[in-house]
Amino acid sequence: MAATAFGTSDFIVVANRLPVDVVKAPDGSLTWKEAPGGLVTALKPILSARNGAWVGWPGAPDVGDGPIEGQDMLLVPVKLSAQEVQEHYEGFSNGSLWPLYHDVIVKPEYHREWWNTYVEVNRRFAEETAKVAAEGATVWVQDYQLQLVPKMLRMLRPDVKIGFFLHIPFPPVELFMQMPWRREIIEGILGADLVGFHLPGGAQNFLYLASKLAGYATSKNSIGVRSKFGIVTVGFRSVRVGAFPISIDSADLSATAKLPETKQRARALRKELGTPEKILLGVDRLDYTKGIDVRLRAIGELYAEGRLDPERHVFVQLATPSRERVESYKVMRDDIERQVGRINGDFGRVGRPVVSYVHRPVPRRELLAFFAAADVMLVTPLRDGMNLVAKEYIACRNDSSGALVLSEFTGAAAELRQAYLCNPHDLEGVKNAIDEAVHQDAEDGKRRIRSMRRQVLQYDVDRWARSFLQTLAGTVDETPA
Ligand code: ADP
Ligand code: F6P
Repeated sequence: MAATAFGTSDFIVVANRLPVDVVKAPDGSLTWKEAPGGLVTALKPILSARNGAWVGWPGAPDVGDGPIEGQDMLLVPVKLSAQEVQEHYEGFSNGSLWPLYHDVIVKPEYHREWWNTYVEVNRRFAEETAKVAAEGATVWVQDYQLQLVPKMLRMLRPDVKIGFFLHIPFPPVELFMQMPWRREIIEGILGADLVGFHLPGGAQNFLYLASKLAGYATSKNSIGVRSKFGIVTVGFRSVRVGAFPISIDSADLSATAKLPETKQRARALRKELGTPEKILLGVDRLDYTKGIDVRLRAIGELYAEGRLDPERHVFVQLATPSRERVESYKVMRDDIERQVGRINGDFGRVGRPVVSYVHRPVPRRELLAFFAAADVMLVTPLRDGMNLVAKEYIACRNDSSGALVLSEFTGAAAELRQAYLCNPHDLEGVKNAIDEAVHQDAEDGKRRIRSMRRQVLQYDVDRWARSFLQTLAGTVDETPA
């Protein structure tokens, strides 16, 4: 790889996706529309103050020719062919890494051609980043799709400061060892100056592998939350390793949920559902990690046992389509839709299903109205790095009513200890948690929600970004000139 001339951006986010939606015009031509998510909202002030750039894939094959000046940042598209999307995104990222890092809930597949394309696509991301980075810029690389970028970028641009954050769980060592290219991945991530995970456990697993697999000297301390960072000595460099649990724009969500129009829509939703006593809600990407099947099984049995009443209790599952070309996602969708049909067949009546299932993304405002309307939120993943939905629900409960059923196998469970915690592998346990949440004492419920609101409002996404970037800015670069 040849050395690259300096660009003009002082702060660069590198993520698999650009914060845009690709829009198809009636004539078939494609344009982009900015699509702000939590991450971009949190980073906008830094991006606009520091000539920011965002490097990412526009989300469709063969789209993106050259950078585009956005409102607060330069958008730098990484153009991928249909084959690259299939082998990098659907293949290695979501057919190998995603299941491996989520406790092999489905069996990961390892194919050499997927890996080769992963390397190639990571190289392209590194090269595009190297082109736009000003001398001494700060670059923040996001997530499992881009684990080789830190090392590749360091080789191209040793002058830049590099952070890497993994948004999904980092697996136990025994599982990670399955990966045929395990050492390359650890070395790739260690190109960063600071490596962040949601939980200390993931950071600790990574530290162990840096020592045992890659042979580097590592600190022996136990890693804290936003504190007590681990150190890996890579040649003359010290790489810090830490835990930085991500969060949401809590104040903004809370304020939007409080608006009269949101409350009115929440009341209308309850009416549309037949004015039930309790609305139970699930909101997820349609992903096998989310345990949508687990909650459906639990709900079906609770109706059958008379612990939920079809006349008084309804369940709404909002499921965004996701990774629809990956085989395991197709299989799971069929299974979930069969379960929904069966429960409605057994317990619903004409015009009054007990489960309302929507397989479409719901607009943000509408989603917040659902959170405001829901009496019990069901978050039951088999494994999840964080789970922002749990935090969003809590942020929307301005009057402290409601209840959260939360899987212990989510990152959020480490912070939201007052939820009705459950083990998603223990069906009776999940049923009991739902039963308790539905029939909770109102005062006890308020105490729980209040305590979780304090946590979510205090530790928001802004605080997450600041704590990571301040730690990155403080890293000592001992690389000789
Ligand atoms: P993941 O990153 O694995 O998808 P998270 O729970 O951390 O899971 O984040 C999902 C994000 O997508 C949240 O902001 C949530 O509000 C949003 N989301 C999930 N399902 C839907 C849906 N059906 N409609 C609209 N937004 C959704
Ligand atoms: O949280 C993990 C993650 O893969 C993110 O990187 C991504 O924003 C989200 O899930 C949705 O996934 P995808 O980009 O595959 O639709």
